[in-house]
Amino acid sequence: MEQVQAEKRVKELQDLLNQYNYEYHVLDKPSVPDSEYDRLLKELIQLEEKYPHLKTPDSPTGRVGGNVLDAFEKVQHRTPMLSLGNAFNEADLRDFDRKVRQAVGDRYQYVCELKIDGLAVSLRYEDGQFVQGATRGDGTIGEDITANLRTIKSIPLKLTEPVSLEVRGEAYMPKRSFHALNEIKEVNGEEPFANPRNAAAGSLRQLDPKIAASRNLDVFLYAIGDIGTTGVESHSEGLELLEKLGFKTNKERRVCPTIDDVLEYVNSWVEKRASLPYEIDGIVIKVDSLQQQEELGTTAKSPRWAIAYKFPAEEVVTKLTGIELTVGRTGVVTPTAILEPVKVAGTTVKRASLHNEDLIREKDIKIGDYVVIKKAGDIIPEVVKVLAEKRTGEEQSFSMPKECPECHSELVHLDGEVAVRCINPKCPAQIREGLIHFVSRDAMNIDGLGEKVITQLFKENLIEDVADIYRLQFDQLVNLERMGEKSAQNLLDAIEKSKENSLEKLLFGLGIRHVGAKAAKILAQEFGTIDHLRLATVEQLRNINEIGEKMADSIHSYFNLEEAIEVIEELKSLGINMEYKGPRIRALEDVDSYFAGKTIVLTGKLLQLSRDEAKEKIELYGGKVTGSVSKKTDLVIAGEDAGSKLTKAEQLGIEVWNEERFLEELKS
Ligand code: IVH
Repeated sequence: MEQVQAEKRVKELQDLLNQYNYEYHVLDKPSVPDSEYDRLLKELIQLEEKYPHLKTPDSPTGRVGGNVLDAFEKVQHRTPMLSLGNAFNEADLRDFDRKVRQAVGDRYQYVCELKIDGLAVSLRYEDGQFVQGATRGDGTIGEDITANLRTIKSIPLKLTEPVSLEVRGEAYMPKRSFHALNEIKEVNGEEPFANPRNAAAGSLRQLDPKIAASRNLDVFLYAIGDIGTTGVESHSEGLELLEKLGFKTNKERRVCPTIDDVLEYVNSWVEKRASLPYEIDGIVIKVDSLQQQEELGTTAKSPRWAIAYKFPAEEVVTKLTGIELTVGRTGVVTPTAILEPVKVAGTTVKRASLHNEDLIREKDIKIGDYVVIKKAGDIIPEVVKVLAEKRTGEEQSFSMPKECPECHSELVHLDGEVAVRCINPKCPAQIREGLIHFVSRDAMNIDGLGEKVITQLFKENLIEDVADIYRLQFDQLVNLERMGEKSAQNLLDAIEKSKENSLEKLLFGLGIRHVGAKAAKILAQEFGTIDHLRLATVEQLRNINEIGEKMADSIHSYFNLEEAIEVIEELKSLGINMEYKGPRIRALEDVDSYFAGKTIVLTGKLLQLSRDEAKEKIELYGGKVTGSVSKKTDLVIAGEDAGSKLTKAEQLGIEVWNEERFLEELKS
């Protein structure tokens, strides 16, 4: 075949196969038999092999899985990937509805969707081409799994329009593929996957994309990452836009005008879910109007305009054979039930936290009891109740010891707490747990350095405090159990990389009492560097909106501890970054910014800056950029061809600037 002819045919085949693929995997309505598809695909593979320059990134031949990767790159999400608050019963849903009504008034409607039990993914398209796919990770930073996602045939490699946007959805493994996969695993003597969610996650976390390609994964898209730029005004319109662009959405969604309709929808799925070809673990309820979503806003972790109703968890009976004590990072001693292994919601449960002595007494738990177990939120095992009728009289009561099980110092009840604590700062259990916390995902997020490796390093006296992690040497690591040369090097690389983390990760990792991941971020944004934070007075700390009295005192006392300062100085000298790297919420110091504290909407086409750049600048000077115009908007920056948002701003009497005025302000 001639070059020119080949080029024409390759293009023809790519388009045709992409179309057939879309019909089969997205619409579920194939227009040609599989054999025809296979024949054309074979022809395309041959032509692309002969003329490799004709193989484009959106060619359907790219679905079979490309080169094996060394590791996944990290991806920073442009807008955070939030999770959802949970509802477990009718009362929770009615409570949610009440709050929505309070915030937005009587006129609103919900969209109910199935909560697909897979893993959240983000897909980025530029000019209509699929360019990057990522996991949710910690919500801010995920992993680049583009090569694996490319193998999912319902993910379009090219959209019907050359638009640039980021979409979000759930990748999952259909029940059939899951059972087939586990059968193969069992035949091969391998450990089967506990449930389709784990199977999907396990498949997408493989470095060899051919494995993902062989796993028959699928996807439903349910959101546009930054909807502000699409002109869409409701969630349902957003889903329609996704469909128009070629994405697969879930068709079981319903618009529900009232909470009673929501409850009816929820109840209808309690039984019906078993007949679905994929697993769901609940129903997601979302306020439809984007403007109302905006008015409701979000908490640090989840939006106030949506909630996930979780189906009741499966309950099973097993025997409680013992109670073990563990000492946490803050010295709290927690009793844990040791159980006869039993399968619950797909995984084998052997232990369940009993939280504290009061709870053991309340539930009247004795060693040797038969107990009912469930997994709260389908994840955390919990003892629901004791089956007292099964008692033989052999059961033994339990009481908390007076001494720390690790360091044998006396345990105390701190002011009114139910928990008992070991208050020995040198208690090895607390130190070890503190180290585990330091490397965990929301803290320094060091890949390959989990509980097991930390425990080994600690036992071998290779690390005594967090600074020692940055002094580890290749020879020390390679000699550890189950550690090869490659993993030792990977670990060192991950440790090195963590030095660059933005300040909030370190702040959270230090384990200052009462300072969670969210507070750490606020502190980092407010103070910018650890030295500024260190010098903050209790008053300054208390003046920050989200920082309460207890936390302010705790932060202040922490930075007055000699040992704390010592560790920070050591970390500094080892090259750990001590600055905040994200956008600042307040105006830059010494800059009297117009944008500080203002809520700003960008609309229309900007000519000098990209929308992301404009957003970044506004945030840098302390402003907040949102997607739709409401009473809370302070300023609208309107580029060319601005549409309904501009009209709305004018109706509401909100100040409007053109791009030129905006640039002028930036310069000043
Ligand atoms: S909306 C900001 N819709 O459930 C809210 N989530 O914690 C974004 N999920 O990890 C989530 N089906 O991956 C939404 N129809 C659906 C969903 C869904 C499954 C997952 C999602 C997230 C978790 C919520």
